[in-house]
Amino acid sequence: MSEESEGELEARLPEGESFEPPESFVEQANVTDEAIYEEFEENWPDCWERAADLLDWEASYDQVLDDSDAPFYEWFVDGKLNASYNCLDRHVEDGRGDEVAIEWVGEPTEETRTYTYQELLDEVEEFAAALRDLGVEEDDVVTMYMPMIPELPVAMLACARIGAPHSVVFAGFSADALATRMNSAESEYLVTCDGYYRRGDPLDHKDKADEGLSGVEHGVDTVVVDRLGDELDHDLDDEQHDYDDLIDEHAGASVDPVTRDAEDMLFLMYTSGTTGKPKGVKHTTGGYLSYVSWTSHAVLDIKPEDTYWCSADIGWITGHSYIVYGPLALGTSTVMYEGTPDYPDKDRLWEIVEDYDVTQLYTAPTAIRAFMKWGEEYPAQHDLSSLRLLGTVGEPINPRAWKWYYKHIGDESCPVVDTWWQTETGGMMVTTLPGVNEMKPGSAGPPLPGISANVVDMSGDDVEPGEAGYLTVDKPWPGMLRTLYRNDERFIEEYWQEYSDEGTDEWVYFPEDGAKIDDDGYITVLGRVDDVINVSGHRLGTMEVESAIVGVEGVAEAAVVGGNHDIKGEAVYAYAITEDGYEGDDDLRERIVEGVEDAIGPIARPEEVIFSPELPKTRSGKIMRRLLEDIANGEELGNTSTLRNPEIVDDIAGKVGED
Ligand code: PRX
Repeated sequence: MSEESEGELEARLPEGESFEPPESFVEQANVTDEAIYEEFEENWPDCWERAADLLDWEASYDQVLDDSDAPFYEWFVDGKLNASYNCLDRHVEDGRGDEVAIEWVGEPTEETRTYTYQELLDEVEEFAAALRDLGVEEDDVVTMYMPMIPELPVAMLACARIGAPHSVVFAGFSADALATRMNSAESEYLVTCDGYYRRGDPLDHKDKADEGLSGVEHGVDTVVVDRLGDELDHDLDDEQHDYDDLIDEHAGASVDPVTRDAEDMLFLMYTSGTTGKPKGVKHTTGGYLSYVSWTSHAVLDIKPEDTYWCSADIGWITGHSYIVYGPLALGTSTVMYEGTPDYPDKDRLWEIVEDYDVTQLYTAPTAIRAFMKWGEEYPAQHDLSSLRLLGTVGEPINPRAWKWYYKHIGDESCPVVDTWWQTETGGMMVTTLPGVNEMKPGSAGPPLPGISANVVDMSGDDVEPGEAGYLTVDKPWPGMLRTLYRNDERFIEEYWQEYSDEGTDEWVYFPEDGAKIDDDGYITVLGRVDDVINVSGHRLGTMEVESAIVGVEGVAEAAVVGGNHDIKGEAVYAYAITEDGYEGDDDLRERIVEGVEDAIGPIARPEEVIFSPELPKTRSGKIMRRLLEDIANGEELGNTSTLRNPEIVDDIAGKVGED
């Protein structure tokens, strides 16, 4: 974008200004009455029946919420349903089998695939039959290590159909990361593929999957999707099965959806926490599916006739909730794009919006900042008038990026929903309702109806409006995680211990984010307050990166912090101390970067590796991370007199940027 037009935009939309939802949007919105906030409050927890009513239940629940064993809450107690039935069969039974479920857009521009609801149901049944033949039983965890190809949602829904929880591992994660997750879940089944396209080139994926499998401690049956055809040859060993062969063998199969209890696990999703070990977040069938359907309806304004597009990867929670489960449960057409936004050119997303008449676009601030940098001429080449709503998720959005999105993508006629939530919350928690609330760029908005979120100080008391504090949620909600897989103790420690008063049985969920709240109840999320950093909307535990770095030969100690980054939001800054006899040179730097990529994946690649003879430590020996962050950000350094080794600070600061 040019300097001049950016200036004009800023002048027109000064900071702090708010925007009314466009009238044309409100006229047709799913939710328009602000009384909904009061209704939910007065009728809590029964208000959540409204979410459950969006689904078809085989047996109705007896109780909306059972909090007798808090914080192990149960929702829609004794209700019975199947997620795959709700996402597929019921739409076909309604005579909508010929309508589009998935519009898949491959990275190569000529490659697209359309699945109607009937076609998707057929393939899901065939693959469900194949999984059963391989030995998959109800409650067996099936791992998926796949990029954005249609067989991924097919496999997820096939698992849901037979009651086997899935655990999707982001395809960009390393072989080690796959092995850790499969071992942790004792998962004996893997669905993966030969490879996929990245910026025009075929990329091998199976090698990485095989390497991961070599680190799995038990036997695994693997299904391999042939995404690349002749582009990439691969061999299958005895426990590896070709996806197409399995589908052929089970052509026309019919598999009844199994009856699942509302509280039965739908899937597991691993996410980073403060320790080096990823957390297996458990989501359930009834509560999760109700919650993502409700938020897709109320916030994303999804209707069956829409062509809705969330540009996230299904390997993250956003893709689970808002590419697959929410949109399909509501019977809409959901777009899946395999590639990157700048291939073959920087207008690829806008071309897709135009070609498919996309009605809602849900993306991340990091992408919006990249679009801004590329310039408004790219969206300007396309007719984006089909868009009705825009959304963002994953990290705080700066008002400048918000306004750019609002103007250059939404033509000032689409509401923008800035949605705060987490892997653990299952769905959106804090955001405006687009047909109800005014929007304030940079501030996510009020908590959704029925969600009780507050901003508190360290002792749990509400902070004054405008002051920074900690975000908390003091009432449960249907989409919440139920526990950490096979680790109830860690579940309590990680999320409930900080602010709950166990004596009075008042349980408060702590998402580990900082926030401020305005007079009008709008919440601005300020980012993580634990040792987790957010790189391009992806959550990374600093400990995970540190343990990868100290695993590199020649490194004695490491500290990792997040530094500001124009596009990524935060970037990884790694400080390393060498072992005696090793030089902090380019060779070691390269080995460190490789070590991180091998242990986690390219997303964790350090922006800079800074060698130092020591790390700044307090007298009690704790690394002063805050100081390392200030150094990474080139900020003025505060008082260093509490350090055991203050002399080291200038030395390190001088090295930032040398890399
Ligand atoms: O710090 C918050 C940030 O992303 C974290 C959750 O990351 P993850 O579990 O990977 O889920 C990302 C997609 C839901 C949060 O703790 N975050 C997410 N959305 C926002 C946000 N920060 C500010 N504003 C948001 N809209």
